Amino acid sequence: MKIRKAVHMNILVCGGAGYIGSHVVRQLQNRGYEVLVLDNLVNGHLSAIGNTPFVKADIMNKRALQQVFDQNRIDAVMHFAAFSIVGESVKRPDLYYRNNVAGTLNLIQTMLENGVNKLIFSSTAAVYGEPGEIPISEDHCTKPTNPYGATKLAVEEMLKWFSQAYGLNYISLRYFNAAGADEAGDIGEDHNPETHLIPLALKTALGLLPEVKIFGTDYPTPDGTCIRDYIHVNDLANAHILALQSLVSGGKSTVYNLGNGSGFSVRDIIKTAQKVTGKLIRVVEAPRRAGDPAVLVASAEKIKRELGWQPQFRDIHQIISSAWHWHCRHGKES
Ligand SMILES: NC(=O)c1ccc[n+]([C@@H]2O[C@H](COP(=O)([O-])OP(=O)(O)OC[C@H]3O[C@@H](n4cnc5c(N)ncnc54)[C@H](O)[C@@H]3O)[C@@H](O)[C@H]2O)c1
Repeated sequence: MKIRKAVHMNILVCGGAGYIGSHVVRQLQNRGYEVLVLDNLVNGHLSAIGNTPFVKADIMNKRALQQVFDQNRIDAVMHFAAFSIVGESVKRPDLYYRNNVAGTLNLIQTMLENGVNKLIFSSTAAVYGEPGEIPISEDHCTKPTNPYGATKLAVEEMLKWFSQAYGLNYISLRYFNAAGADEAGDIGEDHNPETHLIPLALKTALGLLPEVKIFGTDYPTPDGTCIRDYIHVNDLANAHILALQSLVSGGKSTVYNLGNGSGFSVRDIIKTAQKVTGKLIRVVEAPRRAGDPAVLVASAEKIKRELGWQPQFRDIHQIISSAWHWHCRHGKES
């Protein structure tokens, strides 16, 4: 994987105070990029970006976006700002279409009006819905089973048409399950409410939650629980930088999956979390959740082949350990 040192570039990171965004901000800065974070802090944390230049603004507010472009030279945009809780999206699709689709439309229009035509977009495995084959490659059909996945797919469609009509250059990265934390231990996964398995298991180990729920134990998998593909957040961050370099050097607009290519069941994760933490993690079995596919595992061959991306964190024990390191520090602070 060749990650070159940056020629001087200014990157606007929307949603950069969130979990994945803050890790990408750090990697960008480590590689010499200038970063400006824009976030409305509905779910983000200022503490996650240290003294990185920051604008508190909402992508729904076009005037505020225009001001950011007026006051700063911006060469490219990375866009993480979205709502991403599947269950909530089923109950309040309006919120999801407004924030994720209308917000992104505002952002892209403002970019283009200001002559900025490079965008890296956070998409998701949820665009595929129930997979017909495993591992899932980018040409698998897209049939989201919830509004969250549908909003991300709607943006991908929009990007395609805007690319044709207005010369927008974009790379959409479809993440599978982001996990882990930077080894420095000072930034990590801090959602509220938390819905992801690894932080829930670790919070239970810390005594911050009474138990972790397993939704469905009768799936057609070896232990009956759902299988997912976990990818370390810093491997995601590296992929963003490779994607940016590709656009800068004239690479094509496209879509890439990001996952490790191996699946772990809910029970595997809880067992590994018990090993990592040395604590017993109480589990409660609950019924399946609607729209949860039995198995989601990525083929990330396309980004490996085309951009030379290689995940550095292949081992689930290592991924969970990095998350635990952060949770131990953060748990004491909160
Ligand atoms: N975490 C995962 O496993 C995962 C998997 C697939 C895709 N994604 C996508 O990656 C992106 C980042 O995910 P995350 O887990 O870091 O989420 P996060 O909630 O931690 O980060 C999102 C950030 O965007 C900000 N934001 C939301 N709406 C905004 C708006 N209207 N204006 C300005 N800022 C706004 C939030 O305050 C937050 O800081 C999201 O787009 C998500 O859909 C995440």
